[in-house]
Amino acid sequence: MNNTPIKIVETALRDGHQSLAATRMRTKEMLPILEKVDQLGYHAIEAWGGATFDSCLRFLDEDPWERLRTLKKHLQKTPIQMLLRGQNILGYTHYADDVVQEFIKRSVANGVDIIRIFDALNDTRNLECSMLAAKQEGAHVQGALVYTISPYHQDSDFLKTAKELVELGADSICIKDMAGLLAPYAAYDLVKLLKSELTVPIEIHSHCTSGMAEMTYLKAAEAGVDIIDTALSPFAGTTSQPATESMVAALDASPRRTGLALNDFSEIADYLTTIKKEIVTDFKLNTNFSIDPKVISFQLPGGMLSNLVNQMKELGAADKYPELLKEMPKVRAELGYPPLVTPTSQIVASMAVMNVTIGRYKMIPTQVKDMVRGKYGRMPGPIDPAIQKIIIGDEQPITHRPADDLKPQLATLAAGLTEAGYPNLSMEDMLSYALFPDVALNYFAKHRR
Ligand code: CO
Repeated sequence: MNNTPIKIVETALRDGHQSLAATRMRTKEMLPILEKVDQLGYHAIEAWGGATFDSCLRFLDEDPWERLRTLKKHLQKTPIQMLLRGQNILGYTHYADDVVQEFIKRSVANGVDIIRIFDALNDTRNLECSMLAAKQEGAHVQGALVYTISPYHQDSDFLKTAKELVELGADSICIKDMAGLLAPYAAYDLVKLLKSELTVPIEIHSHCTSGMAEMTYLKAAEAGVDIIDTALSPFAGTTSQPATESMVAALDASPRRTGLALNDFSEIADYLTTIKKEIVTDFKLNTNFSIDPKVISFQLPGGMLSNLVNQMKELGAADKYPELLKEMPKVRAELGYPPLVTPTSQIVASMAVMNVTIGRYKMIPTQVKDMVRGKYGRMPGPIDPAIQKIIIGDEQPITHRPADDLKPQLATLAAGLTEAGYPNLSMEDMLSYALFPDVALNYFAKHRR
């Protein structure tokens, strides 16, 4: 049995407020506690990437790069971790390699130490470019396995992907369970297998959405997982991670005790409680989260069920909701069992909604066509040939890496910015513009004139 202390990654400053406070925590609210958090003994602090970049520009009138530099100034001891969607960077489409490389270079130069990289389909070809770039910049590269349940997501499939990630240079592997589907005993088996076959550290990232995450972490600890992701209590639970304090306390009497001191957390947690109230009031946020074990049966990410209910109401088809719940897994199977995470979750959902409202595959959204064409990458399982025929006819799907079809984009972006009246912006600003052109231009209009 592994008797080494479990390491903890604190997520309150990224996933915690992304999950529970619509990613609205501002830099000024983080500042007063950064030095204290830095002293607690975390393995890393996840504080950048994911939706925070978009949120800074779109909702908070903040420059995300400036936030990163500020975080770095105050977190001198603990590594800063970020979450990156492979070839999608922090956006929603594939970007050309030159943009991916430059983004990673600037992220590391401005303060990121650990980069967790994932692809919605676990297609490692979509991770090559970003992983190599991160390696080259000297960052710790963590390859993530997007966890889901399907006939094509057996432990042996995850092991195969993990080995590919290690081959691409991954310094550690994360089991990324964004929907909270990973059950305790499944976690035990998967962690055991990965630990027995790989030498790199294994980390687990789950959400409490289905109510299982704390149990899952405990079984993963028993199986020898090296690192767990937790959030300080005000930003923990329900759709977020298990609470840092609770996990530290739970492991305290075990051979895997973390060595973190429970008393150190209370002052910071009190502060974050106040901050959370402030954010919720300022942005009029919904705080009505609860665990939803239905995600286990329907394998949908948290929040998606309620979105679907609303969508069906808007279409005047609320009565077809039970039908939709049956249609979602059917569509997912027909399309080759993609894990349901951004953007594949939305793509499968939109197809299922159309199928139950206007008839099966009568109308096909462009994104569904592109997914079948291979433009998002390789599907985990085979696409139903009859359905493929309906969706793209005799067209041959691509079998190469999707980003190979993209020409370099940086020069075009620079030209676009010059045309918009910004000939001399920094590379960081140009990258903000690359990912979110409209919101970046709005920000520049206020701050770069
Ligand atoms: Co997460």
